Amino acid sequence: QSIYLSDYRPPAYRVTHTELSFDLDPMATRVKARLHVERHPERAAGEPLELDGEQLTLKSIAIDGQPLGDDEYVLTERGLRVDGVPERFLLDTDVEIAPKDNTALEGLYQSGGMFCTQCEAEGFRRITFYPDRPDVMATFSTTVVGRSDREPVLLSNGNPVERGELPDGRHFVTWEDPHPKPCYLFALVAGDLQKVEDRFTTAGGREVTLQIWVEEENLGKTDHAMASLKRAMRWDEETYGREYDLDLFMIVAVNDFNMGAMENKGLNIFNSAAVLTHPHTATDAAFQRVEGIVAHEYFHNWSGNRVTCRDWFQLSLKEGFTVFRDQSFSADTNSAPVKRIEEVSFFRTAQFAEDAGPTAHPVRPDHYIEIGNFYTLTIYEKGAEIVRMLRNLVGWEAFRRGSDLYFSRFDGQAVTIEDFVACMAEASGQDLDQFMRWYSQAGTPEIDAHGEYDYANGAYRLVLRQRTPATPGQPDKQPLHIPIRLGLVGTKSGRDLTLTLDGEYLGQDGVIHLREEEQEFLFTDVEEAPVPSLARGFSAPIKLHFPYSREDLAFLQTHDSDGFNRWDAGQRLALLALDDLIAAHRNGVEKVMDSRVVEAFRSLLNTATDDKAVLAEMLTLPSEAYIAEQQPLVDVDAIHAARTFVKQSLAIALRDDFLRVYHENVSEAPYAPEPEQIGARSLKNVALSYLVSIEDEEGVELARRQFEADHNMTDVRQALTLLVHSSRDDLADPALRAFGEKWAHDPLVMDQWFSIQVSRPQADALERVKFLMDHPAFSLTNPNKVRALIGAFAQNRINFHRLDGEGYKLLADVVIELNRLNPEIASRLVTPLTRWRRFDEPRQELMKGELERIRAEKLSPNVYEVIEKALA
Ligand code: ARG
Ligand code: ZN
Repeated sequence: QSIYLSDYRPPAYRVTHTELSFDLDPMATRVKARLHVERHPERAAGEPLELDGEQLTLKSIAIDGQPLGDDEYVLTERGLRVDGVPERFLLDTDVEIAPKDNTALEGLYQSGGMFCTQCEAEGFRRITFYPDRPDVMATFSTTVVGRSDREPVLLSNGNPVERGELPDGRHFVTWEDPHPKPCYLFALVAGDLQKVEDRFTTAGGREVTLQIWVEEENLGKTDHAMASLKRAMRWDEETYGREYDLDLFMIVAVNDFNMGAMENKGLNIFNSAAVLTHPHTATDAAFQRVEGIVAHEYFHNWSGNRVTCRDWFQLSLKEGFTVFRDQSFSADTNSAPVKRIEEVSFFRTAQFAEDAGPTAHPVRPDHYIEIGNFYTLTIYEKGAEIVRMLRNLVGWEAFRRGSDLYFSRFDGQAVTIEDFVACMAEASGQDLDQFMRWYSQAGTPEIDAHGEYDYANGAYRLVLRQRTPATPGQPDKQPLHIPIRLGLVGTKSGRDLTLTLDGEYLGQDGVIHLREEEQEFLFTDVEEAPVPSLARGFSAPIKLHFPYSREDLAFLQTHDSDGFNRWDAGQRLALLALDDLIAAHRNGVEKVMDSRVVEAFRSLLNTATDDKAVLAEMLTLPSEAYIAEQQPLVDVDAIHAARTFVKQSLAIALRDDFLRVYHENVSEAPYAPEPEQIGARSLKNVALSYLVSIEDEEGVELARRQFEADHNMTDVRQALTLLVHSSRDDLADPALRAFGEKWAHDPLVMDQWFSIQVSRPQADALERVKFLMDHPAFSLTNPNKVRALIGAFAQNRINFHRLDGEGYKLLADVVIELNRLNPEIASRLVTPLTRWRRFDEPRQELMKGELERIRAEKLSPNVYEVIEKALA
């Protein structure tokens, strides 16, 4: 059942205009479609018309008004075929669907009492018979009929052009979307919703009405999303010259949603977790996430909607570019270095793991079974890293020219990644052929680097060697074009030395291009012995190995002019210390703390800084997941023990410093999600986490008071988490109870309440999961709840990986149930089990056993594809 990129052909027939009418009913919605169909000019005449359609009950079908008899079409599990159609015709179909039974949340479904849709990637085929592929672009006209009492609000794409009352307490609204679009961008929302409205005037003078539609109780949680939207609209005009193109832009918040949000034309649909915020219910991180996602979906209006993908293999064309755009926007609006540190630390933990596992795939895959499985970190985040490299390779100005060219040349078309890169090559005059391999080759390139300083000649010789490990289906790899931004930091002066390579002056912060498997770079006129600072700003999505000594790393941590690499040097230094401790734990030797790490932290805590958010990151140890990524075979317990030991040793040694930093950063100012406040809060809360890690009397009391003070969710959540993750159940239990009762009515806060409990290191985490699965606020059909409880538990490394296998078993049980209810969520949830090869023998056996138990079920294509890869 695999689909191959190499099999691509344009559709035999295209649709130029689509007229839809919905008569809404939870169990029996009728969908009438009239498609204006014509033969594709590149395809021969006389081919059959093939339409996708799943879970539809066909009531009638007609061509040019002539009803078709049962023998004039063929219905299959997957669609409909009609032979002998004219060159150009009108196709009318009438189908019935049951939104209420739709637990997969693809197509038209119900969330609470409201109707909503999710069509990307292939959900539209669950609404009506259609060529459900992105290279079929049509204008849409949609009439929605609903009950005036139950569905007073009826929304779809574009502009409302007509509305009216109907008999039997029903009413209708007709929407017209003048911009041709693929059906994956179709949307419909109907229900008892309220709106918050604002306005935006585009640079070109268009007056746009902005609306955020929510359930009544959420009216007070839309301010931040609205402000973010307006900032994003302005930013896209100023940065990319992109203006909005309709008079109305709507966002709707729904509680049941598989992903973060969806960029449907003029009618973005959001997971409520990705749009609603309030200082008392959402953390700083949530505020920033909302800002980023609102921008992301808005930016898709150009990078995705006006110019879309030819086929789903090109998914990263819109996602990689759009993630890069939203990252740049967030960097411009917040602390840029901290944004980069957050991105990279997430990327190196999660995307590297994906690249090293059984589901590794290129940024442009060449085959798939279920496209829903390819909304991955590789397509999104690695895709964004590739676009970032492009921007850096050609420079911003050429990149912007290339972007303009791309949007103007392909406006209204469905195109490929080559088309995009060709615009960049054309605008910059650069040869990007070798660079294209980034899109076709899976796996994380590893670079082994070493260098020597030649005192006699004042030269520094840097040797780089690249190799990309084999990934499933790709045993042999070719060398990539890897841009390495670097500096040589003088060990005497502590400053960046000037870079002269082959007589060319590169400045003090230059880029070298690694294209061969192995390449030597000889820098001349290097006046003093340097420590190289390599891949600054994470200039390529690679693993870079350089034999740094701990002294080198401590030096870079304080002297590197690149903020990102200063942070990274600290992480590398901590990792070296952690390595020793992991070995000590394994060998049963007494653990000794590396004093260099303590001194590095001491100096961080005692040096004035203007970016507190960066300092907070520098004081944060690599996560257990990231440490695990560095190990050939993951030793769950040793990692946990080593990291806990380092954290507690630092807390003991620097207790007074942490206490001081805590107090210095307490503030009574009214909450605002602004960089300066956010930085101070994270610094304060990191300090608190050290104090509570040793159950310091005063620290615990500060946490308790911070919880009680109830100043904002960032502080409350951190305090509650620290108490719950400590052994002070005498304080944690009442706090949890109070919090749970106070917020019982707010599903987004209850999600946090679930996650906090099941991520605790204590041995009862698994029992808590089981207990909470029966909690009235939990539901297996709500993806947010599944992520908050089951997903969060699967990230709780020591407890998920319990040696009795109960953690694995629990996850597998849930996956088996969700395989029937919501295959897309099921196949994501199973991910941690697919990484079984990374663990020790007994765990491997247990995890594999659970995968085999899942395989024995009747599987959805989603879960089937992932399980087969995992067991291959
Ligand atoms: N295009 C959406 C976004 O990135 C994601 C939609 C994914 N939907 C899905 N069912 N996999 O903003
Ligand atoms: Zn997207």
